Amino acid sequence: MIRAKILGLGSYVPDRVVTNDELRFLNPKHERQTEPQMDTSDEWIRKRTGIQERRYVPAGETWRTSDLGKLAAERALEDAGLEAKDIDCIIFGTLSPDIHFPGSAVFMQEKLGINSHYCACYDIRQQCSGFVYGLEMADAFIKAGKYKRVLLVGAEIHSHSLDYTTRGRDVTVLFGDGAGAVVMGPVETTDPREGVLYTRGHADGSGAWGLYLKIFDIGVHGMVDYDPKDREVNSTLYPQMKGKAVFMNAVKQMVAASKEALAATGLSWDDIDWFVPHQANLRINETVVQYGKIPPEKALNTIMFYGNTTAATVPLTIDHYRQEGKVKKGDLVLSTVFGAGFTWGSAVFRV
Ligand code: ACO
Repeated sequence: MIRAKILGLGSYVPDRVVTNDELRFLNPKHERQTEPQMDTSDEWIRKRTGIQERRYVPAGETWRTSDLGKLAAERALEDAGLEAKDIDCIIFGTLSPDIHFPGSAVFMQEKLGINSHYCACYDIRQQCSGFVYGLEMADAFIKAGKYKRVLLVGAEIHSHSLDYTTRGRDVTVLFGDGAGAVVMGPVETTDPREGVLYTRGHADGSGAWGLYLKIFDIGVHGMVDYDPKDREVNSTLYPQMKGKAVFMNAVKQMVAASKEALAATGLSWDDIDWFVPHQANLRINETVVQYGKIPPEKALNTIMFYGNTTAATVPLTIDHYRQEGKVKKGDLVLSTVFGAGFTWGSAVFRV
C-alpha cells in the first residue's frame, strides 16, 4: 500500500525579536519611536494571549512571504536529503501573499531555481488552517500517484499589514512573521501507522466576516475605494476580528476535530506522542486541552516566542521542539487547527 510520508521538515523565523514592550513604540512601518504609539502592556498581552514576543522581518528592508518560505523550504529539503530539483509539486499556504496575483508558490519556485523543471504550483488560502488543508492535499496527491515529492510550505509576513495604533491593538499584538515547511513523498508499507494516518478539513462560511482583511473587494470596484492616508477612519487596510466569536468557535471546533481524529483512526492519547494545536492564543490551547481531555504534557506551544504565524505555526512548532530534542523523528503527532473562514481541521501523522 502506498502512503504519504513526511521526508523532511524545516522552519525559519527572522532574527528581529519584538517584545510586548517594544511593540508599543512601533510606527506604521514597524520602526521604533521614542513615544508609545499604542495603548497596551506586556501584562495585558501575556495574561490574555500567552505571547511574550514575536519575530518581524527587518523594518526598512524588502522581504516578501516567498523569501521566508524559501528559507524554510531549503531547511526541509536538507533534512530530507533532497534537492529543490527533486520537487514536482509546491503547495503554499499563506494569508499574506507577495502580491494579489499570481500566488506566492510560483515566486518561491523561481527563488528555489526550479522554474524550468516540471513542478505544479498551488496557493491555498485557508489562513491558520493552511497546514492541515495542505497536508490533506499533499496526502491525496501522493496516494493517487500524481506527484512524488511535494513541498508544503506555510509562510507569513504579518508585520507589514498591522495597525500599530491603539485602534488595532486587539489584532496586532497576536501576530508574528515566520515560515515552516515539509517535504512529502510516497512510502510502500503495510503498516497502517506509517506516514500520514488521517486528515480532515472543515469549513463554515458563515464565519467569514469573523476575521478578515479586505484591501481588495471585487464586489465594490476593482480596487477598494480608500484614502491610504486616512488611517484613523479607514479599516480596509487592516485585519478586522470579532475576537470573542473567534475564540469560542476555535475552542469548540478544535476539541471536536481532535476527538474526530482519534475516533477515525481508532487511536487514543496513549498512542499519540504530541498534540500540536494551531498557535493563536495560549488560552485557546489550554482550554482545548482541558475540554478535550488531552494530556497537558503532550501539548506543544510556541506562541510565547513567535505569536501567531498563521499557516506556519504547526511545522514551526514541531521544528522548534525537534531542535530542542523533545520531538524525535518518527513521533506521532495529532494536530488541530482553526482559522479565518471559518476553517478548521485535524491530522494525524508521523514527523
Ligand atoms: N492591550 C490592552 N487592552 C486591550 C488590547 C490590548 N492589546 N486588546 C483589547 N484590549 C482591551 C479591549 O479594548 C477591552 O477593553 P474594554 O473592556 O475597555 O472595552 C478589554 O481589553 C477586554 O477585551 P476583550 O476583547 O474582552 O479581551 P479578550 O479576553 O476577549 O481577549 C483576544 C481578546 C486576545 C483578541 C481574544 O478574544 C482572542 O484571542 N480571540 C481569538 C483570536 C484568534 O484566535 N485569532 C486568530 C484566528 S486564526 C487566523 O486564521 C488568522
